[in-house]
Amino acid sequence: MGVPQPAFYIFKCEQSAPPGMPKPSCVTPESQDLLQHLMMTLMQKGIIGTVQPIRSSCLNRCNAGPVMLVEPGHVMYAGLTKEKITEIIDRHIIGGEVVEEYVIAAELWDAPITPEAMMKQMGR
Ligand code: FES
Repeated sequence: MGVPQPAFYIFKCEQSAPPGMPKPSCVTPESQDLLQHLMMTLMQKGIIGTVQPIRSSCLNRCNAGPVMLVEPGHVMYAGLTKEKITEIIDRHIIGGEVVEEYVIAAELWDAPITPEAMMKQMGR
């Protein structure tokens, strides 16, 4: 028997912007400990071995930040707080139910375009 794959990868955007930058970012003084909270909560529940948190750069949804992406499923959670992360772990990661009220707005997260379809759009 081989080494089991993780059941989930959670990509937490850890992009910060220098002070004075007009573009919003997911890591601010108020939100800088969310990744640590995510990791600590997974550890406390004893599931860090099968749920792999990933420190990510910008996921291109900065206006909805702080954000994190759960794979499999392409589920993007927005406007995160510690309380929301704990609830997402309990209900989605352990319970198997997407926490719809914390999912990014549909107009910001439409269905993916396949690379083949994108190449056709570009005339290649
Ligand atoms: S800074 Fe987090 S999505 Fe861009």
